[in-house]
This record gives sequence, C-alpha cells and structure tokens, in this order.
Amino acid sequence: MLETTTKQERLVIAVINSERMLEGGGFPVRRPFPTARLSQVDPFLLFDHLGPVEWGPGEGIGAPDHPHRGFETVTYLLSGEMEHKDSAGNSGTLRPGDVQWMTAGRGVVHSELPSADFMKNGGTMNGFQIWVNLPARDKMTRPRYQDIPATQIPEAVSADGKVKVRVIAGDSLGQSAVIKTHTPIMYLHFTLKPGAVIVQPVPENYNALAYVILGELRAGDERRAVREGQMARFGGGGAVRLGVDENAAGPAELLLLGGVPHGEPVERHGPFVMNTREEIVQAIRDYQDGRMGNINF
Ligand code: CO
Repeated sequence: MLETTTKQERLVIAVINSERMLEGGGFPVRRPFPTARLSQVDPFLLFDHLGPVEWGPGEGIGAPDHPHRGFETVTYLLSGEMEHKDSAGNSGTLRPGDVQWMTAGRGVVHSELPSADFMKNGGTMNGFQIWVNLPARDKMTRPRYQDIPATQIPEAVSADGKVKVRVIAGDSLGQSAVIKTHTPIMYLHFTLKPGAVIVQPVPENYNALAYVILGELRAGDERRAVREGQMARFGGGGAVRLGVDENAAGPAELLLLGGVPHGEPVERHGPFVMNTREEIVQAIRDYQDGRMGNINF
C-alpha cells in the first residue's frame, strides 16, 4: 500500500454532456443538470449556461414575472445586459462580470429580462444561472438580494501568470469572496492558459463539479479531457486538479463549483423546491393567493 502524506486529489467520476433546451420566455440554454440522468449535485439543483446567443434589436428574450421558494438563484453574466426586479422591491442591472445572488427563501416573484439598452441595440447574451438549495432550516428565511458589480469580485493570478481566477464564492489563490452564502459554497471562474496547472483546495465534505465554458480542460488526478459544454463531477477527496495541455490551441475557461451537501429530501415543482409534497402544495397555494407578492414598480 502506498503511503501518502497529502490528502488525495479527487478523481472525475463522470463527464456529463449538457442538454440543449429553451427556458423562460424561450431563450436557449445548455443544461448539464437537472436532466433525466442527473437530478442534482447536492446542494446544486440546476446549472444553466444561458447562450451564448446573438439577438438582433428587439429580439432579446428573458424570463418575465415568476415566483421562487426554497432556494437561491445565482446569475453571472459574461456578456449582454439583464434587468432584474423582484417583489421585495429590489432591482438591478447585470452587466458582464456582475453577479446577482438572490435568496428566494420563503418566496419572491421576480423578472429577469434583457435591459432596455440591450433590447434596443441587440448583442450577445452569455451567462449562467445556478440554483443553490437551502437547507430545511433556511427554506422559509427572509428573501435576500446581493448584487455584486464586477469591480467588487476579487480576482487573482498565479505566480507563473497562467491561471486567473474570479472568486465569486469561497477562496482561491489567497483571495476570499465578498458574497455571503447560507451554507459553505465555492464558485470560482478560472481562465487557464496552455500549460497551466492549479491544484485548488476543496474541503473534503464538499461535492464538486467543473463546467467548461471554453476550450479543453484536463480535470482531476487522472487529467481527464473535458470539453466546452461538458461538466465533470468529482468524487470524494480533497483538492481538485485543473490544467490545460501545453500544446492546446488556446486557453480554457471553466466554473468550479463546490458545496456541502444537505442530504435532505428534495421535492421540486417548477420554481419551488422544498422537502415534502405538502410544502410544495403550500407554496403553490401561497403563490396563487398572492402571498409571494408582485412586482409593482
Ligand atoms: Co427566476
């Protein structure tokens, strides 16, 4: 038996192809989960890559007024411009590099639409929406809205200049996120040049996944190839190794997500995610009776 003094680096247990579908008012997404094959990566309920899609003037599509209860929606834009409004009175414009971390908790109604400027001029919409589950004790928490402009997202570059990271949640290369999460979450946006390698520490009690935005990643201890639009799920262990071949045609970009699994029952019904069937029925009733409010500004 081999003796090791360091915690074992994680292996890739599956490489998952995204499914293409239409979401909201009909915008195209790539979705590694939830699908018939993979319902969640606890505590993450959904991963949508929005676009990239080219819209002409007047063509942009978003998600008009709809409710959520029991989890958080996290929106991160790479290009384009979105306008968010919710029934708690929050509103904001998301531009490239900005993050909106919206805790629906006991319930909000919100709209996620291309901004007026974007509608007028058209352009490329490219970004992500991820749903982070809340543990049972926090599902009915008061809604919270964290709107973080690109300039406030900590960034770091490795000593050799080959690894760049934007720290949306968690810690990397000596930088810590400014966003607050209910349970420990890691959300890192890496850009890796050819020849780059990073061994990112990930707490042993986290589940972890990497989604490749661009290029070809070598993931895990076994350096498994993961390509654009694919997601790697990591097995148990400690750190996650991420790299790009020296002779790669260009850089790779990816999101590394991690979090402590809740290990609780998940009952879903569209925009509501609770622990029991009864709680879902209650959520539908509360929404229909107007108890999640409406957007009136
Ligand atoms: Co929504």
